[in-house]
Amino acid sequence: MRAFTQPIKYHLAEDTIDKKDIDALREWLSGYPRLTKGPLHPEFEKKWSAWWGRKHSVFCNSGSSANLLMFYALLLSGKMKNKKVIVPAAGWPTTITPAIQFGFEPIMCEADKDTFAMDVGCLERLLEEHNPGAVIFVQILGVPHQHIDQLLALKEKYGFVLLEDACAAMGASYHGRKVGSFGDMASFSLYFGHQLSTIEGGVVSTDDPELNDLLVMLRSHGWGKDLPESSHEKLLKKYGIDNTHEPFIFYEPGFNLRATDLQAFIGIRQLDKMDFLIKRRNENHIRYKKLLGGRLYTQSFDAETTVCSIHFCSLAKDEKERGAIVEALRQNGIETRLYTAGNLGLHPFWADRYGEAHFAWADELHKRGFFLPNHPSLSVEDVEFISSVVLKAIC
Ligand SMILES: Cc1ncc(COP(=O)(O)O)c(C=O)c1O
Repeated sequence: MRAFTQPIKYHLAEDTIDKKDIDALREWLSGYPRLTKGPLHPEFEKKWSAWWGRKHSVFCNSGSSANLLMFYALLLSGKMKNKKVIVPAAGWPTTITPAIQFGFEPIMCEADKDTFAMDVGCLERLLEEHNPGAVIFVQILGVPHQHIDQLLALKEKYGFVLLEDACAAMGASYHGRKVGSFGDMASFSLYFGHQLSTIEGGVVSTDDPELNDLLVMLRSHGWGKDLPESSHEKLLKKYGIDNTHEPFIFYEPGFNLRATDLQAFIGIRQLDKMDFLIKRRNENHIRYKKLLGGRLYTQSFDAETTVCSIHFCSLAKDEKERGAIVEALRQNGIETRLYTAGNLGLHPFWADRYGEAHFAWADELHKRGFFLPNHPSLSVEDVEFISSVVLKAIC
C-alpha cells in the first residue's frame, strides 16, 4: 500500500492500555516487583479462565505462540486419529503455519459468506473425503461464526479435535456463549489494537486437564515445575525423581514462550474494562453496519449475536471500487488496509508447498475486502464521518 497523503487522523486501531493503566504500572514498578513470570501470571490466568468460563488458561507471549502451543500439545497428546488437519482459507498465517512446521497434513477450506469464517458445507465435503484428526477455525474479527451449531454437530459426527482461533474476537458471543469457549482449545491474541492488550501476549484456554499439562510444560522448556501440583506429583512419582533434581527435569521437548509479570499486571487491569470495551466496539460496529450495510457487502450476524470487532470489514463491488475507497480514505487521513491476509491459499508460504488454493468466496475477499477503524475511542461522529467518506467514494 502507498504512503498516506494526509497525516493519519483516524487510526485503524488504538491501544487499550490507557493513562490510568500506565499510572498504575508506574506505581507498581516503583516497588521493584519481579518483572519476569511470577505471581501475577497465575492470577491473570485464573481471572481469564473465570471470565471465559473455562477450566484452564495458559498465558504466553503472543497469539501466534498460542497457536503454536495448541498444535504441538495436540500432536503430543495422541488425541488425533491422524495428522490431517482442515485449515481455513481466511484467517491469519499463524493460524495455520504451525500445522506446516510440525509436519501435519493441512487441507484448506473455503470461507463462508456470512462471517468469512469456515464454510460448513465445504468442511463437510472435506470431512467425508479426508476424515481428518483436527479442524482449526477462526472467529473472524469479532463477528462470531453463525453456523457454530452445525460445526459442533459435525465434530460429533466425524470425531475430530476442534481448535478455535479467537485471537481477534475476544468479547464477542454467540447466543449467549462466549467466543473462545467452543473449541477443545482456543487461542487469543493480546497484541496492540486487539480487543484488549498486554503489549504483546497470547492465551490458550481449555477444559481438558491433559492438554493443559502439556501446554504448561511446552510453554516453559518442557519442565514440570509450573504444572498443577497433582500433575507434577504424578510425574515425579512416575520417573522416581528426588527433591534435588525436581525443578530441572524436562518431560517434553518444550519452548520458551512465556509472557512476563509486567504483561500480567496490565492484563488483569484490561479484563476489568472488558464490559466497557465490548459495548463501545459493538456500538461502533452496529452503527457502521447501519450506515454502510445497504451499499457494501459486510459480515452478517443474527440478533442473538454480540459482535466485538477490531475493525469493520467491508467488500467493495470490485477491485476498482476498492481502489477508489482506499484513495478517498487516505485523502481524509483515515487509516485502512486490505482484508486481513485475504485468501491464505494465494500466499507464497502456502502456494510454494501445496500450489495456489483458489476458492470462489475467499478469492473475492482477497480482491474486494478492506478494513475501517474500530476501537473504543471512536465517537459516533467519527464513525459517521468515516462512513460518509466511503459513501461519497462509491456514488
Ligand atoms: C486470527 C488471528 N490469529 C492469530 C493472530 C496472531 O496473533 P499475534 O499477533 O498476537 O501473534 C492474529 C493476529 O492478528 C489473528 O488475527
